[in-house]
Amino acid sequence: MKELSYYPNLSIAENARLNGVSIATIRKYIQDSGIDRKFDEIYKIFTNIKRLQEQNPEYTASQIKRLSGYSLNTVKKYMKMVEFPYCLSPEKYSGFDLQKSNNIIKSVSNSQTVILNSILQLYINNNHYECDFTYSIGVFWKGIRQPDLKFDKYPQLEGVKPLSEAFLLPDGTLHNCVIDLPYIVQGIGSKITDRFTSFNSEEEMFDTNREMIELAYRKLMKGGYLVMKTMDVSYSMKQLWVSDYVVQKAFETGFELKDKFILVSNKRLLNSGGKQHIARKYHSYFFVFYKKQKPDCQILI
Ligand SMILES: C[S@@+](CC[C@H](N)C(=O)[O-])C[C@H]1O[C@@H](n2cnc3c(N)ncnc32)[C@H](O)[C@@H]1O
Repeated sequence: MKELSYYPNLSIAENARLNGVSIATIRKYIQDSGIDRKFDEIYKIFTNIKRLQEQNPEYTASQIKRLSGYSLNTVKKYMKMVEFPYCLSPEKYSGFDLQKSNNIIKSVSNSQTVILNSILQLYINNNHYECDFTYSIGVFWKGIRQPDLKFDKYPQLEGVKPLSEAFLLPDGTLHNCVIDLPYIVQGIGSKITDRFTSFNSEEEMFDTNREMIELAYRKLMKGGYLVMKTMDVSYSMKQLWVSDYVVQKAFETGFELKDKFILVSNKRLLNSGGKQHIARKYHSYFFVFYKKQKPDCQILI
């Protein structure tokens, strides 16, 4: 049997798309592996609601309903549970069982869809992405459910709103959002540049990263998540440590770094022919930032 990456939090169709196989193949995989989908569905709801309760101990059932998207009855039922009350039958197993090596969520992947799904499974309680501030042509969402809100500074597709409208969203309302800014500065590092994929200067790149982190922070509710893709840039002998800058600015804005995923590039980069001075970048990052419930207290001096 082919080893597949199976995500118990996703539908069978989504698992099929993610693995590039048919729905029938996923069904067969589930059957052959003895995975209990019904058990996993209940377990997923239980963990999502418990996580939301833990993060928002003062929230009522109606507030948790709004956050999670489950019905009020479901929320009330699961909020009352102290422990998960069901057991698997002995011949079955759960896709959430991390003792099985192919269920383990790894920090490194060569697929951004796999990384986005891993983040969904671990952190995003309502099980889908809510808002993409840099939608572009939506490559991120080829294998998974589209976000509810799509923005871009230069919208290219119908249904994608100008980024200026994102600034008008009510503050503190998003549960999660995604940012993926260009990595190229015009004239350096690459000859192929356009407004979708590049900045005019280093200063513009750093300023935009900071402004977008601040936008996400304002629009997220406490306990919300910003998923930000970024990478360091190098050209000639110079290195721009954009990822370090992003983490630093996120900390200063009030985020906590919950997790860090590394996307490894499969592409064979062309050799420019000259002597190599620094390591060629074959990776980018997906940072998972968390808007803390309470800001750090200030130390009195
Ligand atoms: C790397 S692409 C995003 C790709 C997208 N994640 C996808 O999956 O298709 C970067 C996006 O950032 C947008 N962008 C460019 N300059 C920007 C700026 N100054 N502020 C905000 N977004 C900008 C571009 O329009 C582009 O759509």
